[in-house]
Amino acid sequence: MTEKIIIGSDHGGFDLKEIIKELLTELLFDVTDVGCYDTTSVHYPEIAQRVAKKIAAGEFSRGILICGTGIGMSLAANRFPKIRATLCHDHLTARLSREHNDSNILAMGARVLGVDTAKDILMTWLNTDFAGDRHLTRIQMLD
Ligand code: RB5
Repeated sequence: MTEKIIIGSDHGGFDLKEIIKELLTELLFDVTDVGCYDTTSVHYPEIAQRVAKKIAAGEFSRGILICGTGIGMSLAANRFPKIRATLCHDHLTARLSREHNDSNILAMGARVLGVDTAKDILMTWLNTDFAGDRHLTRIQMLD
C-alpha cells in the first residue's frame, strides 16, 4: 500500500525539499507538500506547525521538515504532544533517531548538509525500525 508522508520547508530549505520530494515520489510515497513553494522568505514555525499538527492528529504517521539549520523546525515541531522531531546530521543520528527515539519527524538543515548526505539520512530514517524495549519506556516519559 502507498504510504502517505508530509513534508515542509522554509525558504532556506526549499531547494533541498524539492530534491527530497522527488526521491520520495520515486520511492512511491504519496507526498503532501505543505510549503513553502518558492524561495520567498517565510516563517519556519508556521510550516513546522502545519506538519506537526497533522501528525499529532493522526492524519500522517511521519513527516519531514527542512530549514537552514533544521534547528528552528525541530524546536517548533517538538512543542506538540506526540511529536518526536529529530534533527539528524548523518547516517548514525538518522539510525539512532529511529531505533532509540522513534522519530516521527525528520528535521534536516539544508545549509549544513550536502545533497548525498541528506539522501542517505532520509533513506536510513525511512528504513530503520524503532527498537522498543527500554527505549519505549523512555519515549513514553516524554509526554
Ligand atoms: C531562516 O533564515 C533560518 O533562520 C531558518 O532557515 C532556520 O535555519 C532556522 O532555524
